[in-house]
Amino acid sequence: MSDEKEESTRPVCMHRRDVLKAGAVVSGSAVIYPHLSSAQSSAGGVNVAYPKLKIAPIKGLVEGEGVSFNYPLNEQPNVLLKLGRPAQGGIGPDFDIVAFSVLCPHMGGSLRGRYQHDTAAMGPCPFHFSTFDLARGGVPVHASATQNLPQVKLETDGKDIFAVGINGLVYGYRDNLTDGTLPEGAEVIGEVQESRGTLRG
Ligand code: FES
Repeated sequence: MSDEKEESTRPVCMHRRDVLKAGAVVSGSAVIYPHLSSAQSSAGGVNVAYPKLKIAPIKGLVEGEGVSFNYPLNEQPNVLLKLGRPAQGGIGPDFDIVAFSVLCPHMGGSLRGRYQHDTAAMGPCPFHFSTFDLARGGVPVHASATQNLPQVKLETDGKDIFAVGINGLVYGYRDNLTDGTLPEGAEVIGEVQESRGTLRG
């Protein structure tokens, strides 16, 4: 985990490399994914399993202070936040713990460090000033973006917080689980989900 100070860089879509295969179990930071079969990579989406990644203990969270983490790939930056108000998709005793991508869905501007705690909003984006409501699923409330900020699905065992999926397509990616490596400690769980996007080329 790193703090909020570091400025993120826009992820680059590298050449198609390796993709995730449902059911695989991984450990370590440099994971090479097996290729999907042609049936799995057909148009309309691919069946893949999102990894489960421990992010932070609930107890250590401070309201309004973000915890940065990369998920579902090392190249995809997000922030975990305790909003101090119930939120769509929120977990924890107060249903106020959420996590979102810090890559603006409009054209990839970095939203790192742009959380406004008084309004639970993320933004304005430095590129075209979009702002997103984190209590309402990351819906855009101002300026250019037309898509929600991708929201990380969270779970808790009552002690720790885990990322287990993501709603929305991370900016710059044709699929959230292609063209990258899993974060250290990520484990692929058995649940098979429908991933957005298609694999091409
Ligand atoms: S890139 Fe964020 S508003 Fe355009």
